[in-house]
Amino acid sequence: MESNYAVKRTEIKNRACYTKMLQIVWIWCLVVSVSDLTLALDNGLVKTPPMGWLSWERFRCNTDCKNDPDNCISDRLFRTMADIVVAEGYAAVGYEYINIDDCWLEKDRDINGHLVPDRERFPYGMKSLANYIHSKGLKFGIYEDYGNYTCGGYPGVLGYLETDALTFASWDVDYVKLDGCYSHPSEMDRGYPEFGFYLNQTSRPMVYSCSWPVYQIYAGLQPNYTSIIEHCNLWRNFDDIQDSWHSLETIIDYYGNNQDAIVPNAGPGHWNDPDMLIVGNFGLSYEQSKTQMALWAILAAPLLMSVDLRTIRPEYKAILQNRKIIAVDQDPLGIQGRRIYKHKGIEIWARPISPVYQNYFSYAIAFVNRRTDGTPSDVSVTLKELGLQYPGGYSVEDLYEDVNYGVLTPQTKIKVKVNPSGVVILRCDLHLKDIFDTNQFPQYTPNQLFKIRQNSFK
Ligand SMILES: *[C@@H]1O[C@H](CO)[C@@H](O)[C@H](O)[C@H]1NC(C)=O
Ligand SMILES: *[C@@H]1O[C@H](CO)[C@@H](O)[C@H](O)[C@H]1NC(C)=O
Ligand SMILES: *[C@@H]1O[C@H](CO)[C@@H](O)[C@H](O)[C@H]1NC(C)=O
Repeated sequence: MESNYAVKRTEIKNRACYTKMLQIVWIWCLVVSVSDLTLALDNGLVKTPPMGWLSWERFRCNTDCKNDPDNCISDRLFRTMADIVVAEGYAAVGYEYINIDDCWLEKDRDINGHLVPDRERFPYGMKSLANYIHSKGLKFGIYEDYGNYTCGGYPGVLGYLETDALTFASWDVDYVKLDGCYSHPSEMDRGYPEFGFYLNQTSRPMVYSCSWPVYQIYAGLQPNYTSIIEHCNLWRNFDDIQDSWHSLETIIDYYGNNQDAIVPNAGPGHWNDPDMLIVGNFGLSYEQSKTQMALWAILAAPLLMSVDLRTIRPEYKAILQNRKIIAVDQDPLGIQGRRIYKHKGIEIWARPISPVYQNYFSYAIAFVNRRTDGTPSDVSVTLKELGLQYPGGYSVEDLYEDVNYGVLTPQTKIKVKVNPSGVVILRCDLHLKDIFDTNQFPQYTPNQLFKIRQNSFK
């Protein structure tokens, strides 16, 4: 997929507060939240962004099991990755789904019109693979396409929507990614909800990942996010990620440049998907890998690793298993963060997180250095300039480095050194210990969470 169409920004009706503080332009208050007006898909799944492993970016459509048995798309690859996810601590930090991407099918349906997994590469069938993955305490995801063919040229679901939904349910699938090759983008407004209807009718809860908006944007159509939220648990907005810093930068820029239209659509059970984590592959440096992980957490993105877990180097594994950053990604409020500052190659991204008290949020703050002059850049800013105004102060810690800044007031200036193409990510929790006797921060009911989310968009 390739294209340079940009999302036409929807006119922002409720453009509200806009404060200029020194150099930092703080435009937090947005758009009326779309979730004010609409329903979201209610299958009870992915109340926080899904986490797991997905084959595509790293293993692509390698079907050559004769010459490359260890790396081809096969039963063995997915069992091996499931083993490692459990044995090497990924499951313990939250990675859960083992997801097949394209190229798992036979080129033809059987005589009854059913999908058939490749007989040589998946000799035991999908139910057996699902059983194995479930026996490890993990969940099983599969790939299809709302078109006549998948992107790799295998049979698509068009004409077989109900049959295929039932087939997936019969295989105990937990997650379906539905791509959009070989289909008409103008038909997707009808087609994606229709397949979702059949998934629902199986009565097996399955996460529904849609490629609906990205194909419409490529075709020059305006995605109807109201409908997308109502029918999908997650959706791709932009290009496939490739194994390079350049590709990652274009994605970062897309989500920053289009944030007014995109950010309000995220929330518990419905997420924007900037695509897979490529941490640990060939194209990103160590600093750049840290940047992807930090920004994906700010974006409330699905954390789907696409890397060879058999050979990943320990420092990259540590990035993927960073519990503090994962906790930001999985924050229960589910509010996607925004780019709040961009000047001369320095960007600041902020995400409101829990705990919340009165009208004050805690925040994750990422300082990103997009400059290429080969020395760290100093960024120096007060919490107040970042929009953090709670008079009781914030307990501030660095999520990669073992640095705890203690409790800082909004007036305190913090100074960070950000490496070229690197990141510094801080967590700033409201300092509530003087208010609450215990270390127990407030816990929210779903109703309270909903209200808090609404307030964050006012
Ligand atoms: C899919 O195939 C059918 C039957 O050949 C054809 O009528 C239809 O136009 C195709 N759809 C797309 C999106 O190519
Ligand atoms: C099907 O949709 C209904 C109505 O939104 C919902 O309550 C139910 O949980 C869904 N079931 C599944 C299996 O997704
Ligand atoms: C978008 O989808 C919603 C919900 O399905 C629908 O009510 C609305 O009419 C759609 N908007 C447009 C412009 O088609």
